Amino acid sequence: MSGLARISGALALDGVPLASIAQRFGTPCYVYSRNMIEEAFRAFDEGLKGVDHMVCYAVKANSNLAVLEVLARLGAGFDIVSGGELARVLAAGGDASRVIFSGVGKSEAEMRAALAAGIRCFNVESDPEIERLDAVARSMGRVVPVSLRINPDVDARTHPYISTGMASNKFGIAHAHALDAARKVAGSANLRLAGVGCHIGSQILESSPLDEALDRVLELAAGLARDGMALEHLDLGGGFGIRYRDEKPLDARAYCERLARRLAGAGFTVLLEPGRAIAGPAGVLVTRVEYLKGDKARRFAVVDASMSELVRPALYQAWHDIVEVAPRGEAPATYDVVGPVCESADVLGTDRTLAIRAGDLLAILGAGAYGMAMASNYNSRPRPAEVLVDAGEAREVRARESVEGLFALEKRLGTPPAR
Ligand code: LLP
Repeated sequence: MSGLARISGALALDGVPLASIAQRFGTPCYVYSRNMIEEAFRAFDEGLKGVDHMVCYAVKANSNLAVLEVLARLGAGFDIVSGGELARVLAAGGDASRVIFSGVGKSEAEMRAALAAGIRCFNVESDPEIERLDAVARSMGRVVPVSLRINPDVDARTHPYISTGMASNKFGIAHAHALDAARKVAGSANLRLAGVGCHIGSQILESSPLDEALDRVLELAAGLARDGMALEHLDLGGGFGIRYRDEKPLDARAYCERLARRLAGAGFTVLLEPGRAIAGPAGVLVTRVEYLKGDKARRFAVVDASMSELVRPALYQAWHDIVEVAPRGEAPATYDVVGPVCESADVLGTDRTLAIRAGDLLAILGAGAYGMAMASNYNSRPRPAEVLVDAGEAREVRARESVEGLFALEKRLGTPPAR
């Protein structure tokens, strides 16, 4: 059984009751479905089967080793943005030759580590980055595959904080400058121009901005070919939206099939970098109600999760459905679901209709992507446990942090410094 379902009223993920997981591992606790991650990956991978392709999961969305391992076993590629993410992919059994490295600020050390590991390609975003990569490649005696991430200047029509493809934001090489940047790469003995790509934003719900970006990437590829620079791949980024509330996301399989038809015979390997669409729907954050607070103008359900565990509502006013794990047959009331953190922004959901009492469990849905990955220790809160439901069994894939661990790297002044 795949997905969230009620079994005699009790909410279960892939057939495992969330209440039993909360009991075993405590709350707050992230729970992921291996089946749902696999199904979401396959929708992209199988949708693209008409063309040479590689689906590079965006590690930033959820970088738990078990999640990466599940995807590595399916033959996924990985889109990384740091040396830390590279180390995770390798530790999870990922294949370095299927790793692409994105990001505007790669350090020299990160470039060296990625080169040493033998990654597939660097997605470069600026002239100075090309120069740095050239110098690193030269010093290591290597010829490095490079893909230009261009900024196609299209509006992804999503939240401004997660829109990345417009001329006004920091990402990518300006479209007008792409030809010059390509010549710079092609002119270097240590770099090899392998592709061009773009990533225009996240939580995209319409195909038109993606199509527009593809048009611009194809136009550029044609211009480069005319200039004698033939490319091996096109990278169309990630950004595929999911349903948090009432959105109607693109069907990944259908979108990929259409993409494959459009690019069949064009001679490019097609790369995608989806993160949210693979991990997001597959995860929930389970939390327990500490108090119901009814003495204010609004009614508050104070729960044991907070913006430290799931920052998206506080940061982007993002909506996550919040549901009772075991509904009571009682009259519901309307609550703002808030955490214990000392910030007014520490809200997980406003105006939620819930029939709950203190001690009840709630599940915050769609929390598999950018949930734990963005969690912090604010207010000295140990980050929660992570559990993967795999073949009907709940497996702890990250232990809850300990309070001692929070300050294990810190030093008191009491001991004089060594001289
Ligand atoms: N590729 C690149 C170069 C990216 O910058 C991103 C996401 C992705 C792929 C994956 O995008 P996805 O398929 O997951 O939409 N923290 C925000 C989302 C930030 C996305 C940053 N870049 C959130 O919680 O909504």
